[in-house]
Amino acid sequence: MSDMMSYFLLIVGCVIGIGYIFHNLVVKGNRCTSTAKLHGKTVIVTGSNTGIGKKTAINLATRGARVILACRSQQRGEIALAEVMEESRSKEVVFMQLDLGSLKSVRTFAENFLKTEDRLDLLINNAGILLQGKTEDGLGMMFGVNHIGHFLLTNLLLERLKTCGPSRVVTVSSVGHNFGKIDFKCLNTHKALGTGTSFWQTMQIYSDSKLCNVLFTHELAKRLQGTKVTCYSLHPGAINSELSRNSSNVLKALLKPITAFFFKNTEQGAQTTLHCALQDGIEGLSGRYFSNCTVRDLYPKAKDDVAAKKLWELSERHSGLV
Ligand SMILES: NC(=O)c1ccc[n+]([C@@H]2O[C@H](COP(=O)([O-])OP(=O)(O)OC[C@H]3O[C@@H](n4cnc5c(N)ncnc54)[C@H](OP(=O)(O)O)[C@@H]3O)[C@@H](O)[C@H]2O)c1
Ligand SMILES: *[C@@H]1O[C@H](CO)[C@@H](O)[C@H](O)[C@H]1NC(C)=O
Ligand SMILES: *[C@@H]1O[C@H](CO)[C@@H](O)[C@H](O)[C@H]1NC(C)=O
Repeated sequence: MSDMMSYFLLIVGCVIGIGYIFHNLVVKGNRCTSTAKLHGKTVIVTGSNTGIGKKTAINLATRGARVILACRSQQRGEIALAEVMEESRSKEVVFMQLDLGSLKSVRTFAENFLKTEDRLDLLINNAGILLQGKTEDGLGMMFGVNHIGHFLLTNLLLERLKTCGPSRVVTVSSVGHNFGKIDFKCLNTHKALGTGTSFWQTMQIYSDSKLCNVLFTHELAKRLQGTKVTCYSLHPGAINSELSRNSSNVLKALLKPITAFFFKNTEQGAQTTLHCALQDGIEGLSGRYFSNCTVRDLYPKAKDDVAAKKLWELSERHSGLV
């Protein structure tokens, strides 16, 4: 072998080694340390056919929970069902169709669930989409799926959660909410958080929808005071999942080497969701936002009482709740 070749291999080896150590020390993040068992408890995880939702479902099923996989595609959902059952060695896993981009589907899912299941102990609002477009009801796609669908779902299941308390609602947001803003004028005129389809506009609207997740949780906690239901929002980390599936091929190619070293895998990405769902003693932190399994401070705009209330009332109208 030539010297050049040996040097080259040495350097590649070092980069991979450093990357590996870096990944384990820094990227991986904290783990959920709860050893809670969930026999006799029922949980719903939305968007659990892939990504961190699927890993969350596997973990909860392993702990003995009855897990409802609430996914939009029957085909993808049923493949995931077999996988979750096998990996968790549990038979208490069910697929129920739910398309968060359809208010009708959300209502059908809730009716079906309330009729066929006795309990609800944990609602994990995990599904998310990074894609422009309109929902069946003419709402902006990211506003409709990431926020309104979960808003309606949570409200339709709230009575059941209250009867089963202590129970929790966990909503997966993103650190991207920091760049978000809520343009109420645009919401009223376009039923969307923003318009435009360029890369930056798409990222902006995604961030806006994630700010909705945080404000929703803030207001929900207030409305749940005096009940045994608590709620949390969170950033799961930067994760190597399917979220960028609809991004341009150039961006995906550029992201690939970065995601390998700097992004969490989906199992690591599920840890903060699990922490919010399971950790004992965080009930006093209802309404707060977590990241890396730790409660975090929010910028004023993400805990703005007036904006949160306004968004709630607008969401009631856009979801047909009132
Ligand atoms: N990946 C990251 O770096 C990152 C960072 C911050 C926050 N998050 C958040 O983490 C959550 C999970 O994302 P992920 O990274 O695991 O992405 P993912 O692999 O793309 O999974 C997203 C899930 O949401 C489902 N979904 C999309 N639209 C839906 C709809 N209309 N109805 C029902 N389900 C729908 C998808 O179902 P289909 O397979 O049928 O499309 C899929 O199961 C999202 O809320 C995301 O915003 C992710
Ligand atoms: C998570 O927190 C741990 C310990 O507090 C820290 O070592 C690690 O770098 C953090 N990781 C991320 C991704 O924030
Ligand atoms: C988004 O990506 C998925 C998976 O690659 C594909 O099936 C779907 O058609 C894409 N949607 C759009 C609107 O590009």
